[in-house]
Order: sequence, then structure tokens, then C-alpha cells
Amino acid sequence: MYASEPFSAAIDRETGTLASPDNIYERPLSAMAAMYEDAEAVKAALAGGDPIIYKVYEKNMPELPGELQWCMSVTMPGKIGREYFMTKGHFHEVRDTAEIYLCTRGTGYMLMETEDGRTDAQEMRPDVAVYVPARWAHRSINTGDEPLISFCVYPGDAGHDYGSIETAGFRKRIVEIDGKPAIIDNKP
Ligand code: F6R
Ligand code: ZN
Repeated sequence: MYASEPFSAAIDRETGTLASPDNIYERPLSAMAAMYEDAEAVKAALAGGDPIIYKVYEKNMPELPGELQWCMSVTMPGKIGREYFMTKGHFHEVRDTAEIYLCTRGTGYMLMETEDGRTDAQEMRPDVAVYVPARWAHRSINTGDEPLISFCVYPGDAGHDYGSIETAGFRKRIVEIDGKPAIIDNKP
């Protein structure tokens, strides 16, 4: 049996939009307030509105191992205190599934870590592809002053597990120190 039919859809490298997305979601600061290190800075940012930190334009493909999910991920520029805007980050529910991010605009990092404590950060800039291996949690961080945009592809059945990242966070953070991005320990 065939689970899906051939099709194509234009992507816009500059805006991060995907033609005819099945789903668009926007994550405001209030939906991830506890993930930033500086609670006072979060409060101040929320008092001035509730900024959209990132948006995702998705195609919903069959949740089968042989199919592929794909989307455009757009992380806005900005900081909460000294910490750059970032995605929530997640493991894939099916741990043995990898992902490729192809950056089309902006600058930043893909912060990654494993459950047994390995950490990594790969630079993101236009036309660079980042390979997120199976079993690595991943979060995009925008260290520039324009949107950080990537085209993402991952197995159809991968799913998202936000659990441990929501409660414990990543082991590292990326913050601005002396005008430059610095990778620091989350809990020194
Ligand atoms: C999918 C994936 C990306 C992210 C997107 C938003 O597996 O890694 O499409 O879903 O960048 O980030 P999260 O899902 O962490 O809120
Ligand atoms: Zn993912």
C-alpha cells in the first residue's frame, strides 16, 4: 500500500514559509518561560508583551518509519537577559531517529546533548547542513540579528519528547558575554 502521494511545495529561504503548510505553530515566551536562566528578565519581557520566540511551518506526513516529516523552523532574533532566543528543544520519542537541518538564513548554533551527558554545538549559517544523530536532543539558538531559518527533515515516526528538557533543561546554555556568544554550563 502507498501511504502518501508524490507532491512538491516551495520553500522561502528568507521568510521561512512553506507553501500550503498543514500546520503552523508559534511558540511565545510564555510557553517556555521557565527555560530561560533569568526569571527577572522573563518577567520584564512578558510585561512588555509576549514575544514570539519561534515559528514552525510543517507538512504532516504519515507517522511511519519509511516516510519523512519536514518543516521550516524560524527562530526570531532577540535575547532574554543575556540568553539568546532558542527553541524548546527535544529528544525524538523514537530515540533511534536522526534529523537534518539545512540552514537557509541567519546565524546561530544547534545545541545538542545525549542522555548520558555528552554535549555538542554546531554553528548554523546559510547553506550549512547540521546532522543531528539519533539519540541526541537538539535545540536551535539564534545568536544573530535576523531570523535563524532552517529546513528540517526527519523520519516519519520520530515524534517529539520534550519531557526531560522541560524539567531539567540542557546541560549547556548559549549566552552573550562581552558582545559574543559563549557556551556556559547550565548549572555551574
Ligand atoms: C523536528 C525538529 C524541528 C523542531 C522545531 C521547533 O524534529 O527538530 O522541526 O521541532 O525547530 O523546536 P521544538 O520542537 O524543540 O519546539
Ligand atoms: Zn527534532
